[in-house]
Amino acid sequence: MSRDEILLPNEDLAEVAEETTLRPRRLDEFVGQSALKEHLDIMLGAAKLRGQAVDHVLLAGPPGLGKTSMAAIIAAEMGSRLQPTSGPALERAGDLAAILTNLDDGDVLFIDEVHRLPRAVEEVLYPAMEDFQLDIVIGKGPAARSIRIDVPRFTLVGATTRTGSITGPLRDRFGFVARLDYYTTNELTLIVTRAAQILGVTLAADGAVEIARRSRGTPRIANRLLKRVRDYAEVRGDGTVSAETANTALALFEVDELGLDKVDRAILAALCKTFAGQPVGLGTLAISVGEQPETVEDVYEPFLLQNGLLQRTPRGRVATASAYRHLGLAVVAGNAETPGLFDGDSGNQTQA
Ligand SMILES: Nc1ncnc2c1ncn2[C@@H]1O[C@H](COP(=O)(O)OP(=O)(O)OP(=O)(O)O)[C@@H](O)[C@H]1O
Ligand SMILES: [Mg+2]
Repeated sequence: MSRDEILLPNEDLAEVAEETTLRPRRLDEFVGQSALKEHLDIMLGAAKLRGQAVDHVLLAGPPGLGKTSMAAIIAAEMGSRLQPTSGPALERAGDLAAILTNLDDGDVLFIDEVHRLPRAVEEVLYPAMEDFQLDIVIGKGPAARSIRIDVPRFTLVGATTRTGSITGPLRDRFGFVARLDYYTTNELTLIVTRAAQILGVTLAADGAVEIARRSRGTPRIANRLLKRVRDYAEVRGDGTVSAETANTALALFEVDELGLDKVDRAILAALCKTFAGQPVGLGTLAISVGEQPETVEDVYEPFLLQNGLLQRTPRGRVATASAYRHLGLAVVAGNAETPGLFDGDSGNQTQA
């Protein structure tokens, strides 16, 4: 994902492996998302009592909030096998049929980016999710006939960064749709502290808070900033990650006080300066910051929206007064200040 490329120009395979070691394995290791965890705990407990597979679960939320981790936790808590795949990998209906028929009862099928499943594949999934049956067409032309076969009682866990792109019929077939929210600074402090223990980093309490505060509410970013600041502390300091080292290092990596990175700031600057407060369409905005529209929409906007720095209006994106202030600019009257509908109304993300 491009956000990570910006933060991590030299990411190597070892770091990817490290992300795996940092994954929480059990529900009680999973920090935050308390309402979701409670709900899942009850679902998992009830399924275990009845000796059945858990109902299908859809996990939605911006990148890096723990969807893949949660899918693995569901399988681990149920003591079942996790079978991971992704929407774009399932090109033809036959790909999905092959996976489904090879499952065992109780297996967890994890489909990442489930909003990118081709339509024909999605249609095979409906009867499989609902009745644990698969319709297969045999033969061609007038001789073709359809047969139904049973598939094991599996649990589908779908993950998506965009709930808006999930078709109604697919969404309706999930027994539980869980939305992951950005994490609080306290939660991220716990996550960073745990990661430091696993990685053997000497992390001062105030250093943990400083990294947490600037992680955009995202555990993956928190863990990565920790590693970058550790590098800095080892090369330029005494190896200890304190608030001061974190501050200096993060300034060097162009992560600002709010945790915004270069692209976040470029988006706000485009809205405030280049387009001088006029509403801007997603495509135009994306081009002006050199990103794909989907990346701007899925990765950058949710956090800016949630923090009251950006608004989506029917005419396009505009920066809020807070954004102008954050960039140290005079507020352009008329646009940014208008009714301020979503200003401060941080939980409310408008779906464009
Ligand atoms: N609740 C949590 N507690 C502790 N660590 C977490 C938590 N959520 C995520 N992490 C850390 O963040 C990393 C990224 O999480 P994960 O891969 O599960 O996110 P994701 O939502 O699947 O992201 P993407 O949409 O990019 O696939 C994990 O490796 C893990 O170290
Ligand atoms: Mg994932």
